[in-house]
Amino acid sequence: MEFGELNDLGLFYHFTEAEEMESGFLTEKELELISNRHRNKQLDFIRGRTCAKMALKKMGFPIANVELLSEPDGQVSWPEGVVGSISHSKGLAGAIVGWKKDFQSLGLDIELRNRVQPEIWDRLFTELEQEVLLQFPMELQSEKATEIFSLKEAFYKFQWPLTKTFLGMRDVEWKGHGFAAGISSKLPTYRCFTSLYNQHHISVIVG
Ligand SMILES: CC(C)(COP(=O)(O)OP(=O)(O)OC[C@H]1O[C@@H](n2cnc3c(N)ncnc32)[C@H](O)[C@@H]1OP(=O)(O)O)[C@@H](O)C(=O)NCCC(=O)NCCS
Repeated sequence: MEFGELNDLGLFYHFTEAEEMESGFLTEKELELISNRHRNKQLDFIRGRTCAKMALKKMGFPIANVELLSEPDGQVSWPEGVVGSISHSKGLAGAIVGWKKDFQSLGLDIELRNRVQPEIWDRLFTELEQEVLLQFPMELQSEKATEIFSLKEAFYKFQWPLTKTFLGMRDVEWKGHGFAAGISSKLPTYRCFTSLYNQHHISVIVG
């Protein structure tokens, strides 16, 4: 996935490599949401919200008036008519947004490359996924495992607003182009994109 591909789909996005950003784009109520969090969590929230507002600006929103609070379940309370997704990782954070008339839901995830080592595969992957991973040359296995992990996180964010169903990592199975999951019949047709950007995997689910 080149970022240009997201534009072609009608998505708007903004990413930042900054670890710390000024909180100037956030409203008082947004800052209240994080007042009791640890510093790193506060910085993540500020990076994510700032990216989301930059992406909304590209859609034509006057961002001084935009407030992005969080729902009790953790998802963002997007402006009327908008769907979107935020992710923050060490060294890269970003947001994607689009019009609800074009998309039912969006999922974004960013992960550091080679993060997922074999010791934790059992917790993250089904037997079939692990068999597929073992078919890759040893030096590529952690890379591929991180890609699938990231796609699963993006899929979770995509499906949650539509089904409100908790799905553990082993409740869904990556099939190479989409997921086998108990809730599949409740989802619209969706597409999965994955990309490497310097030290990160970026996964996007669009449907
Ligand atoms: C919610 C979850 C997906 C967040 O992912 P993460 O890698 O920990 O963190 P990220 O930085 O990528 O994403 C965090 C953002 O996700 C968004 N988010 C949180 N809960 C969400 C939900 N229920 N639905 C959609 N988006 C959600 C928020 O925007 C949050 O950022 P914010 O608090 O600054 O607004 C993850 O913590 C989780 O609970 N996963 C559940 C199990 C799972 O992933 N299953 C996979 C198989 S489907």
